[in-house]
Amino acid sequence: VERTLTILKPDCVRKNLIGEVTRRIQEAGFKVVAMKMTRLTKETAGGFYAVHKERPFFGELVEFMSSGPCVPMILEKENAIEDFRTLIGATNPDEADEGTIRADFADSVGENMVHGSDSVENGKIEAAYFFTESEVVANKA
Ligand code: GTP
Ligand code: MG
Repeated sequence: VERTLTILKPDCVRKNLIGEVTRRIQEAGFKVVAMKMTRLTKETAGGFYAVHKERPFFGELVEFMSSGPCVPMILEKENAIEDFRTLIGATNPDEADEGTIRADFADSVGENMVHGSDSVENGKIEAAYFFTESEVVANKA
């Protein structure tokens, strides 16, 4: 089964929407196989989004992602990468389809509630960024 890495971003946590967003994720057929609450530093946030480090919004992105606790999760589902990006909607909530998580809850392109891996390959790298093998508990359930 395919996996994706999501992060419920600091805006999601601040708005007390961890439960609501997780409910939508589970209702859409994703199985949560790892989950934690953590706070990124500027360094770890910058490392996670290193691919964007030359972009003009990088400083803002790092500032925001380290502004409060977040909730990374590994999710499992057939076609997880693509289906998860469909569930969350476009990066900019103004362009996100109706009924998507970003359309319903996100305030701006910078504060857009959730991260979703963009490929199977990156999903593996990102999952390893947050979780050790022994923290992926569903492996042993
Ligand atoms: P992620 O799932 O978070 O990776 O979002 P994405 O794949 O939909 O978008 P992308 O990887 O291109 O950008 C990563 C993140 O950078 C986005 O989720 C935004 O939070 C942020 N970002 C992208 N474009 C802008 C922008 O123009 N301004 C600001 N402030 N942030 C941006
Ligand atoms: Mg991305």
